[in-house]
Amino acid sequence: MKVHRGWPDFQLMPTSRAKSSSKRPLWIIVLIALVCISLILVYLHPPQGYSSCYLLSSKVCDHLDYWLPPVPARVLTDEELIAKIVAHDILSIPNAPTKNPKVAFMFLTPGSLPFEQLWVKFFLGHEDRFSIYVHASREKPAHLSPFFIGRDVRSEKVSWGKISMVDAEKRLLANALQDTDNQHFVLLSDSCVPLHNFDYVYRYLMETNISFVDCFHDPGPHGTGRFSEHMLPEIEKKDWRKGSQWFSVKRQHALVLLSDSLYYTKFKLFCKPAMENNKNCYADEHYLPTLLNMVEPTGIANWSVTHVDWSEGKWHPKSYRADDVTFELFHNITSIDETVHVTSDAKQMVMRNSCLWNGTKRPCYLFARKFYPEALDNLMNIFSNFTVI
Ligand SMILES: *[C@@H]1O[C@H](CO)[C@@H](O)[C@H](O)[C@H]1NC(C)=O
Ligand SMILES: *[C@@H]1O[C@H](CO)[C@@H](O)[C@H](O)[C@H]1NC(C)=O
Ligand SMILES: *[C@@H]1O[C@H](CO)[C@@H](O)[C@H](O)[C@H]1NC(C)=O
Ligand SMILES: *[C@@H]1O[C@H](CO)[C@@H](O)[C@H](O)[C@H]1NC(C)=O
Ligand SMILES: *[C@@H]1O[C@H](CO)[C@@H](O)[C@H](O)[C@H]1NC(C)=O
Repeated sequence: MKVHRGWPDFQLMPTSRAKSSSKRPLWIIVLIALVCISLILVYLHPPQGYSSCYLLSSKVCDHLDYWLPPVPARVLTDEELIAKIVAHDILSIPNAPTKNPKVAFMFLTPGSLPFEQLWVKFFLGHEDRFSIYVHASREKPAHLSPFFIGRDVRSEKVSWGKISMVDAEKRLLANALQDTDNQHFVLLSDSCVPLHNFDYVYRYLMETNISFVDCFHDPGPHGTGRFSEHMLPEIEKKDWRKGSQWFSVKRQHALVLLSDSLYYTKFKLFCKPAMENNKNCYADEHYLPTLLNMVEPTGIANWSVTHVDWSEGKWHPKSYRADDVTFELFHNITSIDETVHVTSDAKQMVMRNSCLWNGTKRPCYLFARKFYPEALDNLMNIFSNFTVI
């Protein structure tokens, strides 16, 4: 017998109601007795560590749940129960098999894409393995290539750091999820360029079972300093994570993001620029990492496959001009095989992590930003050379 975690009532009530006659088979009585005994035992000895298992679908946790039905530390609200069971089931149901698995490339841009020509070079020859979606928030893009023509999704204005950014990401995901061939979903900006050829990128994303979402715990003012008590009790300070906006997620995580309204609403209401006490919170830097880290911590790589250089320590990352586009630059970026996160508190702790892909150390990055449009010609010239693998 398998008592589904946390839902003994759901499974037993209909049974006992339906068979109300006195000729109830013996096995039902035995079953109910067993369940009652186990519930009493659990009541007397509440299980430890249940919450970390609650959303996980791993075999270990299923096994634990079998023996230790959960007694929550606090009573969950209706919305929380719904959110948790929906996320749990999405993660435990395998994707429908598809003959033609594709990667969805989702471009978040104000208007035309300065590197469309470069992307066309990247996509050429792989027509059945990708799909493109463009969310242009300011003006209708002028596309040059049939790959991009007709791929604009209905879009709305996007304000930097506001929830409208997350809304645009969800809008792109909703469009891309309609194609059941899409198995992995990459968010890119107009200033992003590819660092490897299509085959390399496709295999890197598809031949593993995780999402590449940047995620780390920053105890400083730009990390948990942005947490608001209004997020309680569903989101606790210890759950708060930070990461780059540029994600790449597997289909199940895309569905989890779209199914969520509880946590999304918390961010919409309590994580915005210029909040009380002069606090700034940017939903696009916290919502995804915090949610996915709560739902399936082992399902995310904790780094983004899009490289950006913050080493100058300014408000904006380094932007590359035409002259910066050299083999050396691309060699340097594609050689990086560990991520560096620095906390924003006084300690400025530096955390280095190897980029482990299926347990093997590999280069971390598939894409890079930010490039000025003027870099296009140089990028086109050297693209075939630096993307040999
Ligand atoms: C990586 O791991 C996934 C999931 O276990 C597996 O399906 C895939 O074959 C592995 N890829 C390689 C190249 O070993
Ligand atoms: C990915 O696959 C590996 C190896 O099969 C497995 O141990 C791991 O639990 C899987 N992770 C997820 C998040 O599915
Ligand atoms: C990402 O970090 C979490 C802890 O925050 C850890 O449990 C998980 O294993 C990490 N992911 C990978 C792929 O190592
Ligand atoms: C590449 O890396 C080397 C060694 O760290 C550094 O000296 C050089 O300036 C880098 N070049 C570029 C173009 O980033
Ligand atoms: C790229 O490689 C080709 C063939 O190896 C070579 O002819 C060409 O000059 C290279 N381009 C640059 C910009 O170095």
